[in-house]
Amino acid sequence: MSFSLPRDYTPKHRLLKDRVILVTGAGDGLGKAAALACAGLGATVVLLGRTVPKLEQVYDAIERGGGATPAIYPMNLAGASWNEYQQLADTLEREFGRLDGLLHCAAHFKAFAALDDLEPREWVESLQVNLTAAYTMTRLCLPLLRRSADASVVFTSAASGREAKPFHGVYGIAKAALEAMMKTWAQETELEPGLRFNSFDPGPLRTGLRLKGYPGDVIDKVPPPESAVPALLWLLGPDSRGVSGRAL
Ligand SMILES: NC(=O)c1ccc[n+]([C@@H]2O[C@H](COP(=O)([O-])OP(=O)(O)OC[C@H]3O[C@@H](n4cnc5c(N)ncnc54)[C@H](OP(=O)(O)O)[C@@H]3O)[C@@H](O)[C@H]2O)c1
Repeated sequence: MSFSLPRDYTPKHRLLKDRVILVTGAGDGLGKAAALACAGLGATVVLLGRTVPKLEQVYDAIERGGGATPAIYPMNLAGASWNEYQQLADTLEREFGRLDGLLHCAAHFKAFAALDDLEPREWVESLQVNLTAAYTMTRLCLPLLRRSADASVVFTSAASGREAKPFHGVYGIAKAALEAMMKTWAQETELEPGLRFNSFDPGPLRTGLRLKGYPGDVIDKVPPPESAVPALLWLLGPDSRGVSGRAL
């Protein structure tokens, strides 16, 4: 199947109506922008993140905008246990019975550093948040995703996930592994037309993460997170049905 990613995609009214979509990192940056957009298109959004006041702000904005009542799920992905992910899946099953979308936007990044200089703790925490959390959450939510007629799992990646870059350190290594994991999952489920896995590199975005890596950036010149949202909506919604295993 050949296609090009429609970055200027215009979703149709209520595109995501009746869909339940879990967004990680929903309190800030791209996750926040995507969660607001999904709710604006009719989805019931589960806002997962670690800073509750930020999640509450997103919740309030969705309510003010007339979107379906969202849910807040506070969770610190650094060091979360298998049990905690199982509790998340059990709660989603109880509240919603299924999941139609899982958008992984949470990301851990402190600073660029040579591998030589990386603190052991930074290695562990980065892999936990950027890779292990995405694996474990997806793995334990799979039964719920399989109850959807059209489930879409989207991992957010980065340029350093496609090509090793010096000083991108464990962040880039985690993104490379994330893309490999996405492709493996897509291949293993290729006979399941109702389930797809893709990854998406949004490019530079005006977020807190960008500022940590590029403090000298003229940040106003970097595109806002909203600029990457149309592509995510396309990936999450019915217009990308049949697209799986793509690192976009
Ligand atoms: N910004 C860019 O230029 C850029 C470029 C390429 C790819 N990306 C990718 O795009 C995605 C979104 O990044 P962003 O720029 O939107 O980043 P961001 O603004 O820093 O947001 C990251 C989100 O992840 C959450 N998070 C971090 N550690 C967590 C933890 N331990 N447990 C739970 N949540 C945690 C943060 O929560 P708090 O609000 O509590 O901190 C925040 O809501 C990431 O996958 C990133 O790698 C970004």
